[in-house]
Amino acid sequence: MAKLIEMKSPYGLGKSRTRSTNGANGRCNLERNVISVMSMTGGAGKTSLVVNLGRTLAQQERRAFLIDTAPHGLLPFHLGAAETGPGQLCDLSEAGSGTLRAMNLDIASAYSHSADHMWMKKVILQETDPSEYVLIDINTAPLWLTRQILQLSQYVLIPLMPDMSTLLSIPCIEDCLDGFSTPGMDRPSYYAVLNQFDSEIAFHRRVEAEAKAHLGSRLIPVTLSRDARMSCSLPQERNWMERYPASPLVQDYRRLSLWMQRLLEGPAREVADL
Ligand SMILES: Nc1ncnc2c1ncn2[C@@H]1O[C@H](COP(=O)(O)OP(=O)(O)OP(=O)(O)O)[C@@H](O)[C@H]1O
Ligand SMILES: [Mg+2]
Repeated sequence: MAKLIEMKSPYGLGKSRTRSTNGANGRCNLERNVISVMSMTGGAGKTSLVVNLGRTLAQQERRAFLIDTAPHGLLPFHLGAAETGPGQLCDLSEAGSGTLRAMNLDIASAYSHSADHMWMKKVILQETDPSEYVLIDINTAPLWLTRQILQLSQYVLIPLMPDMSTLLSIPCIEDCLDGFSTPGMDRPSYYAVLNQFDSEIAFHRRVEAEAKAHLGSRLIPVTLSRDARMSCSLPQERNWMERYPASPLVQDYRRLSLWMQRLLEGPAREVADL
């Protein structure tokens, strides 16, 4: 197993870079809490992470604005939107909670602005305000758009499935992020979270140990449990978080949300213990 982990990066950028991972060099401070979500492997749980974190933030009386980079991506539907489309904004806020809004990017407009390196910045500034958490599902975005998003993101969240693909891709995470950076831009700070994790399964624990060894504090100290009811619950009826409030996965999301708020707002902000 160790041999597999030590293999060379398939991204071909294996040289270590000397630039810092958290400086302001080449990065853009938007005065927004921008978190983008991407993964090295498909189906790792990006959309679920954005949807459920957004819901949890709203339940915790925060304001969340979710962006799907795919013009016809399903993110708003997962939240119960009746219809959606490129550039269409859906307000999915519920009484007694914070706000929850979602939109698909108008990619046609984005293409016509592809030379405009400020396009994504303008979208975020126009649609959100400083009190909102902006979560971006980097779905099938073109490279130039992914670069813009990473330049604007304070943090990148990477869901990891506890499987063999993850084991092979863990050593490539930083090379992959570097590959999306523009010259002179710092690598965005990133954090990884294990999804569909079951501590009873020996292989899952193995992946967790390898991830911890490679990523150290970049592995979030919260894991997301597997809960098949999440995929089987129709959002139009009632969202699964409300149906199963005692589910371990709902609790996991609460902890993850608090962890993220603490990360963004600093240790001064009081949050319940993780
Ligand atoms: N914690 C979980 N427990 C059970 N099922 C989950 C969990 N997280 C995600 N899933 C399921 O795994 C599948 C893939 O999740 P999701 O669509 O969020 O991944 P993705 O990374 O967005 O995929 P893609 O790369 O295709 O965009 C979905 O069917 C989703 O319902
Ligand atoms: Mg997805």
